[in-house]
Order: sequence, then structure tokens, then C-alpha cells
Amino acid sequence: MERSLVLVKPDGVQRGLVGEVFSRLERRGLRLVGAKFLEVSKDLAKKHYAEHEGKPFYDGLIKYITSSPVMAMAWEGPNAVAAIRQTMGSTRPTEAAPGSLRHDFGLEVGRNLTHASDAPETGEREVKLWFDSDELVEWERAIDRWVFEDSD
Ligand code: RTP
Ligand code: MG
Repeated sequence: MERSLVLVKPDGVQRGLVGEVFSRLERRGLRLVGAKFLEVSKDLAKKHYAEHEGKPFYDGLIKYITSSPVMAMAWEGPNAVAAIRQTMGSTRPTEAAPGSLRHDFGLEVGRNLTHASDAPETGEREVKLWFDSDELVEWERAIDRWVFEDSD
């Protein structure tokens, strides 16, 4: 079962979109395994965005993610990474598909509301970076077999 980190970034939290993000992911059928509300330290921000160090938008990105609290979540499900990125929409809100979160609520790439892991291995790494193992809950839902084809 794939896992993905999802962040509601500072703009999403400030704009009252935490519930909207939870709601869309729950509605999709994904299973929540962890959630916490926190201020991001510079150290965590740098680790999370290490791949972007040196890029022109890097300093602004670190400032953005540390500017105000974020809602961090871990979600799982079959094809969770692709499903979640589709629900969020393309990085640039003006290129995001109609109906996606970034299309419906965003305009600018530097205020694109959410983060989602970009590959299954990234999901594993990012969930471990943001959550201690005792903050993750392994559980089953009564509806799992009606959402996941292979739920055993
Ligand atoms: P994310 O990691 O946030 O889910 O978004 P992503 O994979 O779609 O985008 P990524 O390339 O990983 O970029 C991470 C975040 O950096 C900001 N960004 N700004 N000004 C720019 O050209 C630019 N490019 C990227 C965005 O906030 C993006 O989500
Ligand atoms: Mg990314």
C-alpha cells in the first residue's frame, strides 16, 4: 500500500482550507494514517526541500513554508501518490485541471496551497521525515473492501 505525505501549506491553513483538503482526500477513499498541526522549523524545511536547494525559488520556498503553521498528514491507499497529486492538481495552478484543488483555489505557483509526495519512495521518505513511528496509526476501516480491491 502506497503512502504519501500531504501538507496544507501556510496559505491553505490561513485561508481555512484544511477541512477542504481532508474532505477531498477522505472522499477519494484514501485512508488517513497520521496528522499533526505544526510550525515548520528551518531545519525541517531545508531537509524537506533539499532537492530544490540552489534553485531561484528556493529561498522564497523556505520562507513560505516556515511563515505560518502547516497541517501535515500521512495518507495511504493503492496508487495513493498518483491519486493525491491528481486531486491536488499541477504545481502551477493555471495548469491544474479544472476540479483539482489548485485549480479551484489557486493562482500562483508560490501560493499553491498543498504539498504531496511525488513518487512512492518519496512518500515513504517524507512520511518518516515528518512523523515519528508512534504518530502513525495502522488501522482498518469497515469500508476498506468496498474501496480497495485487495484489502487483505
Ligand atoms: P509539492 O512538492 O509542493 O507537492 O509540489 P510539486 O511537486 O508539484 O512541485 P516541486 O517541483 O516539488 O516544487 C516544490 C514547490 O516549490 C514551489 N515552486 N515554485 N517559482 C517557481 O517556479 C516554483 N517552482 C516550484 C511550489 O510551491 C512547489 O509546490
Ligand atoms: Mg515536489
